[in-house]
Amino acid sequence: MTSRYQSLPGRAPGFTYQHSRRGLLRTKGPLVLHCEDLSMTTLAEKFGTPLYVYSGETITAHHLAFDRAFRDIHHTICYSVKANSNLSILRLLARKGCGFDVVSGGELERVMTADRRAAKRVVFSGVGKTREEITAALKAGILLFNIESESELWALAECAGRLRTKAPVAFRVNPDVAAETHPYISTGLHKHKFGVPVSEARALYAEASGVRYLRVRGVSVHIGSQITDAGPFGEAMSRVADLVRELRRDGHEIDYVDAGGGLGISYDQPPAGTFPQQVAAYAAALVKPLRDLKIHLLLEPGRSIVGPAGALLTSIVYKKSNNGKKFLIVDAAMNDLIRPALYGAFHEIIPVTLHTDQIAKSETTDIVGPVCETGDFFARDRTLPVLEEGDLLAILDAGAYGMALASNYNTRPRPAEVLVSGKSAKLIRRREKISDLLRQEL
Ligand code: LLP
Repeated sequence: MTSRYQSLPGRAPGFTYQHSRRGLLRTKGPLVLHCEDLSMTTLAEKFGTPLYVYSGETITAHHLAFDRAFRDIHHTICYSVKANSNLSILRLLARKGCGFDVVSGGELERVMTADRRAAKRVVFSGVGKTREEITAALKAGILLFNIESESELWALAECAGRLRTKAPVAFRVNPDVAAETHPYISTGLHKHKFGVPVSEARALYAEASGVRYLRVRGVSVHIGSQITDAGPFGEAMSRVADLVRELRRDGHEIDYVDAGGGLGISYDQPPAGTFPQQVAAYAAALVKPLRDLKIHLLLEPGRSIVGPAGALLTSIVYKKSNNGKKFLIVDAAMNDLIRPALYGAFHEIIPVTLHTDQIAKSETTDIVGPVCETGDFFARDRTLPVLEEGDLLAILDAGAYGMALASNYNTRPRPAEVLVSGKSAKLIRRREKISDLLRQEL
């Protein structure tokens, strides 16, 4: 079992096991999980658990991998804020010139708070933008509105008219492409609520181009999330490329194609190849159909940038066994990371400290939280070294849709978040207190 843990094969290099050094002679101690150069035990002591720990190096490396993979085409990476919206993470990406994909007035406000100048690199997606949200985005001067229905188009025209400005418009088309992923996060089929059918797109573009306060700029698409096969991305992009040609023939100015997000990560097994290789395969599939179109490509990755960069650090509160069925009850719960409960998602869970004698013995156990629901689990029948109460566990690949989906269910304060850079760790969100939760109530 040592080798499985020692090298964390295929994992983002942000999290590695390193031997701790002890005493004056600095003798070799047990293997301890580190985030960059900091041991997770130190982080737990300093900030408490449950704790979200992010590797800044991984986030910037993944952003750079995208930038490099698309270097042959004009492009802007618009990080999907919904995956992890912490201001420090947005600031880190904004400093690299990254743009943002937002889906609410709240997310727009976050981007503006992180870096006001990033507004011109913001795309606004979502099926239910309100007039207030649209107006805020128009005032901010965003790059593009991805419009998902005729009604929304008229709402945008009305808001733009009131401000005497021209709103930049793309329609999000639904390419009717099936992608293999969880049904809750697949979006590219006609039965889903997203986008407008490709067959109706030309009529809508014609309508939009006749409105004084709208400026047609592009076409957008997003087929779903956690898609690990490049095939469906290429297929959707071919349909978009055909549509761009038709729209141009109809006389529309189509400068942008927004390819959405969706590139998946390997939660349960070592990925095929390094991250730059995975992005390169994705880029090849997207770029091929667009090659002769001279468009500016927008990308909205979320999970693939921040997912592998984060771990949820939790400590074992109790061990128990019901008629031989074993449980590790930890201090994190479904309210902190809902992906296993909501999607049956797999997350690799590893011990923070590995003593040589522990590695030899293993047991099969469920890892569960304290919330009063059977759905409150992180793993079922997982084989781990024999661990004790008080030991720490790291739930990997939790940087995306972890904290972003956290709630206060069971009146549990949400965890703190820290961003690690080399040997330094910055608290980027304070741990909530119960008093914070009660404050809003009258
Ligand atoms: N663009 C649009 C229009 C989206 O709807 C999404 C994700 C993204 C970009 C970013 O996709 P990504 O690159 O992160 O796959 N909570 C779920 C995922 C929901 C995804 C929603 N839309 C989960 O934990 O798996």
